[in-house]
Parts: sequence; structure tokens; C-alpha cells
Amino acid sequence: MSKNLENRIAIVTGASSGNGRAIALALADRGAAVLCSDLQPTALAGGYEKDIDIPTHEAIIQSGGRAEYKQADASKSSDVEALVAACVELYGRVDIMVNNAGVFTGLHSILDETEDQYDFTMNVNAKGVWLGSKYAIKQMVTQSPLAGAGRGRIINIASIGGLVGLALEPSYCASKGAVVNLTRQLAVDFAPELINVNAVCPGFLATAMVRPFLENKETKSSLEALTPWPRMGTPEDVAKAVCFLASDDAEWMTGSNLTVDGAFTAR
Ligand SMILES: NC(=O)c1ccc[n+]([C@@H]2O[C@H](COP(=O)([O-])OP(=O)(O)OC[C@H]3O[C@@H](n4cnc5c(N)ncnc54)[C@H](O)[C@@H]3O)[C@@H](O)[C@H]2O)c1
Repeated sequence: MSKNLENRIAIVTGASSGNGRAIALALADRGAAVLCSDLQPTALAGGYEKDIDIPTHEAIIQSGGRAEYKQADASKSSDVEALVAACVELYGRVDIMVNNAGVFTGLHSILDETEDQYDFTMNVNAKGVWLGSKYAIKQMVTQSPLAGAGRGRIINIASIGGLVGLALEPSYCASKGAVVNLTRQLAVDFAPELINVNAVCPGFLATAMVRPFLENKETKSSLEALTPWPRMGTPEDVAKAVCFLASDDAEWMTGSNLTVDGAFTAR
């Protein structure tokens, strides 16, 4: 594995499960020190992760990498501010902020979706990315630029649901649409500061979030039928795209919403 992120410092929110876990492990494999953050250090029970009983930061340390865990609710301002401060205290700077934490409350039309479900989804998925970007950028603008990497990279985990309408996912699609356009907006404001802001828009992947659909024969085959590539996506597919966006190869890439979806949105 190329160590092209050696000495880079990363924060990953929602790092205990699914995409966040795969992203944290992949960044660490490439040499980054990773501050793993979540509501709890252990993976969600419904996940497909191998070594699911080992917290992400411990798995990284066992493989010879550098990592720590800090509890933070991505939707709480004081938690996110403290998370960025902890990273600076531990490692001196923040080069890569991955705003990954997200929730999904199940399939329902707007007629059945409750206001609480809307507020919860928007708070974690949309406000969480806004908060993570705000406090990470506040730190990044104070840092001296690294050759090839600038002052820092913001990488948001959006969704195909931010690009197209997914049936029966009103607040989820609204929250991810907010992430997609916040990504573009921040890219414009912070390009002069050499801070890149991009998002990854994954298609359907096997994680705890999607397990209820994968366990149901009908919904599983309809998800497969919606994805032209002849297999489901994995968190590792998403993690590889994140590692590219974190790398020096992506220096002039900003304001992009990169689909990793097996051609779901290409039709
Ligand atoms: N699984 C998919 O098919 C899919 C597709 C597109 C986008 N995504 C996005 O990828 C991201 C990760 O999803 P996943 O599939 O890995 O889900 P997951 O449910 O497997 O894991 C989500 C993780 O985020 C944590 N989390 C939830 N709320 C949090 C909060 N308020 N603060 C901090 N951490 C919190 C959970 O504890 C969990 O560890 C989400 O933003 C999701 O919307 C997932």
C-alpha cells in the first residue's frame, strides 16, 4: 500500500461503522494519523464489518497505524468544536476532515414522515456536515499550506440521494441535497485559501444502514436491479474515492460531487 498520506492528520466522523470505519482504516493504511469519532466506539450491531468487535481506532493501532478515539455527536456544535480542538492538541493540525456521520429513518412518503424524523435527519446529515466543515475550516485557515496538499481537505459523504430523487426518502434526499450544494459553496469561498471541498456520493452499499433492505429478498433484488454494475457497492469502494480526494493527486479538484454508484445515476 502506498504511504501517500504519510504525516497527514485526519478526522473521520461516524468512524465506528460502515463507510466511516472503512475510510478511517484506508486513510491509516496510507499513512495518515486518524482521530476516529462517533457516538460510541463500537460498531453498530447490524454491520458487515470484519473484526466488528474491535473498535476502529484499535484496529488501526493493531495494524501499526496511528489513531485515537473521541466521542462526539456530529450534530452538536460544542462536540464538533471540541473534536477539532482535540485533534490539534493531539497531532498539531487537521489536514483531512471527513464528514461521514449520517442517519436514515426508513422508507416513507412525506405524508407519513414525522417532523421529528425530518429534524433528526437534517440535524445529523446536513447540519453535521455544516458544523464539521465550519470548525475544520476555522482551523485549516490558520495552517501553513503543505506542498501539493494546500491548507486542508474537506470530504463530505453525501449520497446519490443528493443528486436524484430516491423513492420514499424525502428528508434523507433533502439532507443529502444540502450536503451536495454546501460542498460547491464552500469550495468557492475557500479555493483562495487552498482548501479543497469535495463530496463522495455513494450508491447502495452493504452497511448496517441498508441491512433491512438486504435481508428482504424483494428489496434486495430491486436494489440490485437499480444498479447497473453487477455487484453491490462496498464501504471500501467509497474509502478508495475518499483517499484519492485526500491525496496530492486531487490538488486541483474542488467543488466536485463524485459518484461511486455502479452507474446508478448514469442512466
Ligand atoms: N450505506 C449506504 O448505502 C449509503 C449510501 C450513500 C450514502 N451513505 C452515507 O454514508 C454515511 C455512513 O453511512 P453507513 O452506511 O456507513 O451507515 P452506518 O449506519 O453503518 O454507520 C453510521 C455511523 O455513524 C454514526 N453516527 C450516527 N449518528 C451520529 C452522530 N450524530 N454523531 C456521530 N456519529 C453518528 C453511527 O454510530 C455509525 O457508527 C452516511 O452519511 C450515509 O448517509 C450510505
